[in-house]
Amino acid sequence: MDSDGFLHRYFLNNGHKRLHKWMHYFDIYERHFARFRNRQATMLEIGVFGGGSLAMWKDYLGPGSRLIGVDINPDCKAHEADGIEVFIGSQDDPALMSRILAAYPDIDIVLDDGSHMMHHQIASFELLYHRISAHGVYMVEDLHTCYWNEYGGGLRRPGTFMEYAKGLLDELNAVHSRGAVAVTPFTAATFAMSAYDSIIAFDRRPQGTRQAPITESLRPGPDGI
Ligand SMILES: C[S@@+](CC[C@H](N)C(=O)[O-])C[C@H]1O[C@@H](n2cnc3c(N)ncnc32)[C@H](O)[C@@H]1O
Repeated sequence: MDSDGFLHRYFLNNGHKRLHKWMHYFDIYERHFARFRNRQATMLEIGVFGGGSLAMWKDYLGPGSRLIGVDINPDCKAHEADGIEVFIGSQDDPALMSRILAAYPDIDIVLDDGSHMMHHQIASFELLYHRISAHGVYMVEDLHTCYWNEYGGGLRRPGTFMEYAKGLLDELNAVHSRGAVAVTPFTAATFAMSAYDSIIAFDRRPQGTRQAPITESLRPGPDGI
């Protein structure tokens, strides 16, 4: 496990700004974000609220890291600090996302902790996923809302982020679908999709042609040597 418990400890000892997280998220964050620590990474978090998570990410990612917050609530601008910029607007606004991408063309991490409405989660993903670093990670949290009517959710209801992600799972495996699923930019850009309780993480990495060569000894003997 690539977690040293930093985030867990930070959360429990937080005497700073308000921070609200499910406890089981911390190991998941560390599993996907640890490789960006102390590398001057750029992270975009949708959903600023009390500003506590932006401060936590800044501490976690280390010196030189840059944090971008997006929130619909103008009061969140107050959570700007050295290395932390907050943009005000809706997470599904293409003009806002274009403005952010123009200012920060090398985003390594996106964490969607915004409205948790289905159409917003999908809109942000479509606006950002292919515009972030080729080795970046895109994570959507609080996906339990995919099962809740008031967020546009419902079990196996078309249009939820969960059903959308199931479609992406097919795209990830498109090469093996015998033509049933087209190979897409998502297929070519995605190394892994990881599903957890309430979180899906997409690790990006450019993909080459699929190969399955056979290897064995030059002179296989009876004992394989
Ligand atoms: C769950 S809180 C974020 C919590 C914060 N990330 C933390 O860990 O402490 C969700 C935030 O999303 C914001 N929000 C709601 N609808 C939004 C939208 N359409 N676009 C951007 N932000 C939105 C809310 O104002 C709220 O501050």
